[in-house]
Amino acid sequence: MGTYVPDRIVTNDDLSLTLDTSDEWISTRSGIRERRIAGSGEASSDLGVIAARRALESAGISPGELDMIIVASLSPDTLFPPTASYVSAAIGANGTPAYDLSAACTGFIYALASGEAFIASGRYERVLVIGADVVSRMVDWTDRSTAVLFGDGAGAVLLEPAGGEQGIIGFDLGNEPAGRDDLKLPAGGSRLPASEDTVAGRQHFLKMNGREVFKFATRIIETSARQLLSEQGFGIEDVDLFVPHQANMRIIDAAARKLGIPAEKVFSNLERYGNTSCASIPLCLDEAEGAGRLKRGDLVLMVGFGAGLSWGSCLTRW
Ligand code: UT7
Repeated sequence: MGTYVPDRIVTNDDLSLTLDTSDEWISTRSGIRERRIAGSGEASSDLGVIAARRALESAGISPGELDMIIVASLSPDTLFPPTASYVSAAIGANGTPAYDLSAACTGFIYALASGEAFIASGRYERVLVIGADVVSRMVDWTDRSTAVLFGDGAGAVLLEPAGGEQGIIGFDLGNEPAGRDDLKLPAGGSRLPASEDTVAGRQHFLKMNGREVFKFATRIIETSARQLLSEQGFGIEDVDLFVPHQANMRIIDAAARKLGIPAEKVFSNLERYGNTSCASIPLCLDEAEGAGRLKRGDLVLMVGFGAGLSWGSCLTRW
């Protein structure tokens, strides 16, 4: 694994200088105290490249040995070419297949499932999966209901065939399209291409129906986690570490409570990074391992969710 977050820290108090908000509101409603914000000119691929280099270095693998690069992002450098092409160029992986995966904040889990499938099928042996987002470029900095929640970051994992008990056990992926408009970036695609009107209407920024997403998340984390655990023959008590997508501490607490997972088995760094979308789960994994909270043999349950409305759970023997 390898991760990267920009140096610049923006606190809730900093935000309250330009928005009608407060540290009290943001921290009690979301659990977030500060976030990292990318520098001007720093795009998702720039963050992803640093995370990728760190992952390759820690695995002792050269870019030329990669079989595939998948980048999950809701804030790609450009609509096309894929952000993965920029990552590939920067790390020097010429010739390696490289593509982007769009599944919003669930993107990292979907990318993990895609990479795992390429390896399980025997087609490839080394897949670099990257979650990289500069969500700060997608939010409307005049909208206090969304701007305070997000941050920037990247995480990369190198997947290889595992021996014995170790490795990815299974996934539960899904999408409920009825909620597709609850979280979206309306303009800039083929539905609503950029125009003076879309710019004037602030349609190039993220729009969210926070309450609906909140209800969806607290419901789906529980049902997806239970489904995956029972499919794979495990109980809640077997889980050593629960790593949910970091969107809101109230969502994480409610899901853990419904599942009956004790607080000491729940990992969160939301307080310091906010919602970093596709980077949130790998940032947690890397930090958990660094802090000695992930040991070989541990059963790890990750659950992502986001626009779509989509979800993805992954069970892994560390
Ligand atoms: O990756 C997945 C993405 N997103 C999520 O998972 C987000 C899910 N949703 C949430 O986390 C929560 O719904 C929010 C944090 C977005 C909002 O929390 P809430 O408890 O549902 O608040 P609310 O939207 O019901 O707003 C309550 C009040 C409103 O004022 P009134 O109408 O009661 O007078 C808002 O205008 O809080 C106001 N408000 C704020 N006040 C101060 C909204 N944002 C702010 C703010 N500062 N930043």
